[in-house]
Amino acid sequence: MELGAPGIEGLAEHMVRNSAPTANLLKRLSLDLPIIQAPMAGVSSPAMAAAVAQAGGLGSLGVGAADAEGAGRMIAETRERSNKPLNVNVFTHQPARRDLHVETAWIERLRPQFEAFGAEPPTALGEIYKSFVADDAMLAMLIAQKPAVVSLHFGLPEPRRLQALRDAGIVLFASVTSLAEARLAAAAGVDALIAQGYEAGGHRGVFDPDTADDQLGVLALTRLLVSQFDLPIVAAGGIMDGAGIGAVLALGAAAAQLGAAYVATDESLADNGYRQALFSDAAHHTVMTRAISGRPARCLANRFTRVCADAAPAAVPQYPIAYDLGKALHTAAKTAGESGFGAQWAGQGAPLARRMSAGALTRTLADEIR
Ligand SMILES: Cc1cc2nc3c(=O)[nH]c(=O)nc-3n(C[C@H](O)[C@H](O)[C@H](O)COP(=O)(O)O)c2cc1C
Repeated sequence: MELGAPGIEGLAEHMVRNSAPTANLLKRLSLDLPIIQAPMAGVSSPAMAAAVAQAGGLGSLGVGAADAEGAGRMIAETRERSNKPLNVNVFTHQPARRDLHVETAWIERLRPQFEAFGAEPPTALGEIYKSFVADDAMLAMLIAQKPAVVSLHFGLPEPRRLQALRDAGIVLFASVTSLAEARLAAAAGVDALIAQGYEAGGHRGVFDPDTADDQLGVLALTRLLVSQFDLPIVAAGGIMDGAGIGAVLALGAAAAQLGAAYVATDESLADNGYRQALFSDAAHHTVMTRAISGRPARCLANRFTRVCADAAPAAVPQYPIAYDLGKALHTAAKTAGESGFGAQWAGQGAPLARRMSAGALTRTLADEIR
């Protein structure tokens, strides 16, 4: 650190002002703060993204569960509230390989849970979301709408799709969980890497959920990527406050991406059961499970994670086929007054969540950095 550098309490602000990766990213995206509100399909909202943007961070929409028309409406609604840069996040999984034997066995396995709520499971499951790798309408909509950033979760689409987004002036981010995935994303020409640690809430961004996972934590992964790539690295996983943001900036990250911290904000679409669970003992016991959706994701411990604790990965239908059944079970349970079958995603920092508006949280995080 150069002469005249601040003491430890001023370190984070010093990092924001003087770190080249942070300064470059903030300048490129016209942001005031190295804070990215994580895209959270089904939980983040246009009001949340706009509030974060107005407070100087990067607001994000998760459109992985929407079609092009729905995603276009979300972008329009956000822009009615804020004209600041926006991140739109798509899911880039390989389309599911169907296996009717596995799907039927999975339905039968969860049948008693449905019956306990006086409901019947669906007789067949469907691929409820279209992957961006095969969604031409979504690509055309994004090119027309030109959000400042498009971020990719679960892998990389074919080069021509990335080139089309780039030609529209869109900055590309990709979630990665390992050095090998980071190399693929860097080779594909993305502009920034999101280092998603094993602590992180929600779906793990692994490109292939069926290969071995080294489960790197955010600290090691961030340092590894900072040391290997000349690209901005965004750290994600378990970051809940200014101290956490300062810590990842000190590791060389250009910015921090926070998901669980925003789940309890006023603008979140999380239902009451999810919010109550977040402020209960369950927050101390997050679980990585693929039983809810078909891909590994970190969830608050609840009845769903307990019922499926011993499910072998091969017994669970591929993403998002399993999610079709998971959502049906949640609906049946919720109708009967039981909220413990929700996809209550949250990272390991969940007990540090705070109830406030998304704008107030972003400003509080900024004050804590200072
Ligand atoms: C409720 C929830 C939903 C999420 N949905 C998405 C999503 O749609 N797209 C995405 O790229 N990441 C998603 N994530 C992961 C975040 O991008 C990020 O990696 C994670 O929230 C960081 O960990 P944290 O929750 O401990 O802050 C989600 C996370 C949560 C908590």
